[in-house]
Amino acid sequence: MSSILVEKARGTEHVDQRVDALLSRMSLEEKIGQMSLVNAGDSYIHDDLAQALRAGRVGGVLNEVDARIVNELQRIAVEESRLGIPLVIGRDVIHGFRTVMPIPLGQAATWNPDLVQQAARAAAREAAACGVNWTFAPMIDVCRDPRWGRIAESLGEDPCLASILGVAMLQGFQGPNLGRPDAVAACAKHFAGYGAVEGGRDYAAANVPENELRNVHLRPFKAAVDAGVATLMTSFSEVDGVPATANERLVRRILKDEWGFGGFVVSDWDSVRQLGIHGLTADDRESAREAVTAGVDMEMHGDAYAAHLPSLLRAGELDESLIDSAVRRILHVKFRLGLFENPYTKPDAFPPGAREESLAIAREAALQSIVLLRNEHRVLPLSREKLGSLAVIGPLADAPDEQLGTWVFDGDPGLSVTPLQAIHALVGEHVEVRYLRAMETCRSRDTRAFDEAAALAGRSDATVLFLGEEAILSGEAHCRADISLPGAQAELVARVRQAGKPVIAVILAGRPLTLANIADQVDAILYAWHPGTMGGPAIADLLFGIESPSGKLPVSFPRMVGQVPIYYSHKNTGKPPGPDSVVHIDDIDPKARQLSLGMTSFHLDAGYTPLFAFGHGLSYASFEYSSIRVSSGEIPRGQSFHVCADLRNTGEVRAEEVVQLYVRDLVGSVTRPVRELKAFRRVSLDPGEQVTVEFRLHTDDLAFYGRDMRLVVEPGEFHAWIGGSSEAGLRAAFRVVPPA
Ligand code: NOJ
Repeated sequence: MSSILVEKARGTEHVDQRVDALLSRMSLEEKIGQMSLVNAGDSYIHDDLAQALRAGRVGGVLNEVDARIVNELQRIAVEESRLGIPLVIGRDVIHGFRTVMPIPLGQAATWNPDLVQQAARAAAREAAACGVNWTFAPMIDVCRDPRWGRIAESLGEDPCLASILGVAMLQGFQGPNLGRPDAVAACAKHFAGYGAVEGGRDYAAANVPENELRNVHLRPFKAAVDAGVATLMTSFSEVDGVPATANERLVRRILKDEWGFGGFVVSDWDSVRQLGIHGLTADDRESAREAVTAGVDMEMHGDAYAAHLPSLLRAGELDESLIDSAVRRILHVKFRLGLFENPYTKPDAFPPGAREESLAIAREAALQSIVLLRNEHRVLPLSREKLGSLAVIGPLADAPDEQLGTWVFDGDPGLSVTPLQAIHALVGEHVEVRYLRAMETCRSRDTRAFDEAAALAGRSDATVLFLGEEAILSGEAHCRADISLPGAQAELVARVRQAGKPVIAVILAGRPLTLANIADQVDAILYAWHPGTMGGPAIADLLFGIESPSGKLPVSFPRMVGQVPIYYSHKNTGKPPGPDSVVHIDDIDPKARQLSLGMTSFHLDAGYTPLFAFGHGLSYASFEYSSIRVSSGEIPRGQSFHVCADLRNTGEVRAEEVVQLYVRDLVGSVTRPVRELKAFRRVSLDPGEQVTVEFRLHTDDLAFYGRDMRLVVEPGEFHAWIGGSSEAGLRAAFRVVPPA
């Protein structure tokens, strides 16, 4: 064992001894207290809470971010309770704290783990300065349904991308060492299958077969556990008839026994008591029993544990060893956080320059998150020198709150720089900027200002339309069945279009929207998600070519909502469609016979492709891929190999490209997706520059869960593609052969 590992093992042993020593002194009430997470949230400590802390009936508090109050809560717990156990202080620090980073889905569009890590580090520093030591992030539910409002919080549709970025995010929160004052424990959520809720309707059931669960939905969680995430949260939804909070197979057997997760598991908000509402249990007592049996160590906001665990133990319906194991896990995390040594926060100890650093990270993250979906006739970038006037129109051009997106309890809209402000600052006297809001909100159906908008567009050299959806239209419990631009926005586009001048749409939204009705009406589309505090400067820099766009879609954009779920990594089916097999509903001969339309897997009115594919994103440069090769045509199982290709910047500006590697396993004992992302890298290239991009893989990277739910790498033929999106055409073939 290396000296570092020996050191680590000794450290854990030492913590284990301290945990055991403490546990042996705890009463049952104190143990159950550790399993209770209580809501504070009203900026003072009411008597009941203080009393509960003194009695050791609380293990953690959530939703208090005033450092003075947090310190006082800790003081009561540490100094006035019998055993002096400090508290975990939880908060939803989802994408920034005071400084707001792009929504997680936007961060995923950066395909940049280093940047995602820096963004989480900055958020952790700001939150820790307020006494928060635990965040309920990262959210790593694989989501293939843009109707679901929580897609905004997710890292997109792909398990590989979500795994890599989820690990980066949790490492950013937890820092190099959880014991540092600026580290916060991460919480990977929501375990598991929540991203697959039926109909994209929040809290609905998720029907995911175990093989799909393991090959897709559980992968980011396994990666998070392997990377040392401190805690996990169960999901509100059910899988296979059992709500996650009572799902022993998921929590105890897979997460704890099979994967060896050593941290603790928290329920979601009141989700223990909700087991009764699901219809799984008859009362809170049964709910508490089911949740503890499943392996849920801490109850978030709800009193089923406190009220019923004592009687369940007395009646012999629960074994005290289950309680001990839960408390052991919770104490372990508290020791790792260094709370026993230092329970208090000293806001002054945090570097005063952090705000500037956070803003710089927020700006870079926004910049790299924005995806150029379309750029006809290279209408972008705009030229400050050549443009005389610019019409800036739309309800989201100057909306400091809306650009922050969902889950921003602590975000400071006063820090926001809006696109309108940033455009003014960037163009100065060079360009006359004419602003018209045109719609009160994105949902407005009032078209009275549209004549003025059209006239303004007609008088200006170009128009930038700021469209999309407000923050309130995405996030938890904010799902939509129609995911097109709300209100009269499409009509606004059409009216402005009629003016005959170049039109650029910048779309701010918490999800992929269906854009088929406006895509051809505009010359360019920049998809900015909800870009956060520094969204304005990032958008302005891209519009005027100070920077080249480099974001890539972390999720497919459907043409119409009826295609959902549509994702690149689908199965082939026995009747796969191709460009020649698709017939459009408008072209069907009235006398067409039943079997005459091709008989393949597509929609008569939407075909089979998305409007914009996973991984897609244009640049002001252009990139040429060539010469894909694999280190050997035959790779013995158990060995490493590499796949590489040449990449050349054939454009005229320096730009970054996200190079993506996809693989297909042609034959499997369980059918394999038509493509799976295996690796990616951001590369920066000068005009004319050429590089070779090499990805190192191991045959283990080709493993999947087979019919018996074990990981296997099956010998056989594989295809590999390298390119700038999931539609990359440059392909090589190789075989995996049995070990030599
Ligand atoms: C409910 C949400 O599902 C979860 O993601 C969040 O962390 C908790 N509430 C706490 O606010």
